[in-house]
Amino acid sequence: MRRSTFRQLQIFEAIARHMSFTRAAEELFLTQPTVSMQMKKLTDHIGTPQFERIGSQLYLTDAGKELLHTCTEIFSELDRYEMMVADLQGLKKGKLRITIVTTAKYFVPSLLGTFCKRFPGVEASLNVTNREQALIRLEENLDDLYVLGQPPEDLHVESQPFLDNPLVALAPVDHPLADEKNITLERFSEEPFLVREAGSGTRKVVKRLFDEHGLELNVRMELGSNEAIKQAVIGGLGVSILSRHALHHEPRATKICILDVQGFPILRQWYVVYPVGRQLTIIARTFLEFLHQSEH
Ligand code: PGA
Repeated sequence: MRRSTFRQLQIFEAIARHMSFTRAAEELFLTQPTVSMQMKKLTDHIGTPQFERIGSQLYLTDAGKELLHTCTEIFSELDRYEMMVADLQGLKKGKLRITIVTTAKYFVPSLLGTFCKRFPGVEASLNVTNREQALIRLEENLDDLYVLGQPPEDLHVESQPFLDNPLVALAPVDHPLADEKNITLERFSEEPFLVREAGSGTRKVVKRLFDEHGLELNVRMELGSNEAIKQAVIGGLGVSILSRHALHHEPRATKICILDVQGFPILRQWYVVYPVGRQLTIIARTFLEFLHQSEH
């Protein structure tokens, strides 16, 4: 293994990330024969293959999965080192990888934009996915920071609240309940309900609320995003519950109204989360501070 070169590990990591020799070659500006030859050398040094091909599909072998894990650690250590050197030189320079749940996409990108303007040396990547997928990435320790609507109960994490996240009950503006005051949850629960997909954090909160009140959700349809839910509400398919952040426009202008249901808005917060023991990079720490400052 010690005869393998750093370049070979980079090539391996790019193939494993894309699950394609061709795309790895493109990313690294190499020819495909070069990539294949370097992988052959790496396999010879290790003594066991990292990939197997079944039909046209490429898979990582168990040894390949272990090597990918090792490479991820080596590369993030090197990133950290590079940033440390940049910091010593008085520059905030380097990578920042953030994963956010879909509902946070309404405000994190603009915060990140401001941050990147302030620190032009930051190379940021933002992965937007639902809660379940975000937690898988968190468990695999793939990113620097995560923005979630609720810290995970079963993972060992540091979590810091940084912004309010009220959840509101929605209906189309011409809905019979639109002008009613103090609507009971029982009455609201009779309306056809538009629910987010399994794995969504919003869905989890809604389910818990109805369970706590011993009520059944009258599910009309399951939709895979906040945007799809908003369009379906406008289209008159039902009512729903979403984060106030998902209504970034003035609600009346989007033909959606917020219903006055008892117990609403549900008061939640946005949390920035990272695994306990993860050595945060200087940039990740700077971004954390920035998030807290942007509260005010
Ligand atoms: P979601 O998460 O986008 O997966 O619904 C939102 C949340 O956890 O509050």
